[in-house]
Amino acid sequence: MGKVQARMESALSRLLPPAHIAPARLHEAMRYAALGGGKRVRPLLSFAAGEVSGAAPERLEVAAAAVELIHAYSLVHDDLPCMDDDVLRRGKPSVHVEYDEATALLVGDALQTLAFQLLAEHRLADDARVQLEMLKLLALAAGSRGMAGGQQIDLESTGKPLALPELEFMHIHKTGALIRAAVLVGAACGKPLGDAEHTGLDRYAKAVGLAFQVVDDLLDYEGSTATLGKTAGKDSRQGKPTYVSAIGATGAHELALELRGEAHAALEALGTRAARLASLADFVVLRKF
Ligand code: IPE
Ligand code: IPE
Ligand code: MG
Ligand code: MG
Ligand code: MG
Repeated sequence: MGKVQARMESALSRLLPPAHIAPARLHEAMRYAALGGGKRVRPLLSFAAGEVSGAAPERLEVAAAAVELIHAYSLVHDDLPCMDDDVLRRGKPSVHVEYDEATALLVGDALQTLAFQLLAEHRLADDARVQLEMLKLLALAAGSRGMAGGQQIDLESTGKPLALPELEFMHIHKTGALIRAAVLVGAACGKPLGDAEHTGLDRYAKAVGLAFQVVDDLLDYEGSTATLGKTAGKDSRQGKPTYVSAIGATGAHELALELRGEAHAALEALGTRAARLASLADFVVLRKF
């Protein structure tokens, strides 16, 4: 994990505009949002999926950077006063606190477009059609049928309990979609997979994507601000529907473990090349931060 995290830090640093280039304040804030923090779970998943398809690390780091930039943008906007109104992110003041709200808005815009620029300007697949599929996959995962749509449901549902199917729908969209995209674009950087392998990988990606937000809900309830690097306990204070509010902490733990089992089962079609994906499913479910 450390090796991929370090590699991603330097790749992101290289791929982001330098801080001294005009408009310097925006570029500085983009780098503040994307560098020097975060678990890099999505890039880790891209690299692990790339191991299944024999993808070159030079391709994987660009594809993973694109996904991580979308994720970083989503965090900047998620923390804005008009959304979750959070002042702490990755152990530092949120972007709108360190800079200002307008800059935070533009940081999100610019990180998002940089992600698609990267996917368009680097050769990431042998077949250009596969690369276009990667662009489409990330666009769908980030947009109204993916993360942005899930965030809309999150905001509309604040203060209201959600039935389990609606809660699952929200989580699959706001968090699951981008995690799934991280896995699939990583795999797409390598050789084409067989149908059974692709189906297994997609099943894995969906299970891990949902598990990730179930555990995020749990950690908000059980974790501390110091270990999380973001304000703990805010979901219940803000009346967010979560798996903890819906089925309790014990129920959420059980669901996370069930999804871990589902992720492992899905990898059976992929053999030993999927060992790192299996470990990452464990990490996503058992993590404490
Ligand atoms: C937090 O994501 C927001 C969610 C989508 C649940 P991460 O827990 O991956 O945040 P970082 O990147 O490690 O800071
Ligand atoms: C965030 O969910 C999902 C995103 C798309 C950013 P949360 O609002 O629970 O994420 P945290 O807990 O603030 O990181
Ligand atoms: Mg939120
Ligand atoms: Mg939030
Ligand atoms: Mg949360």
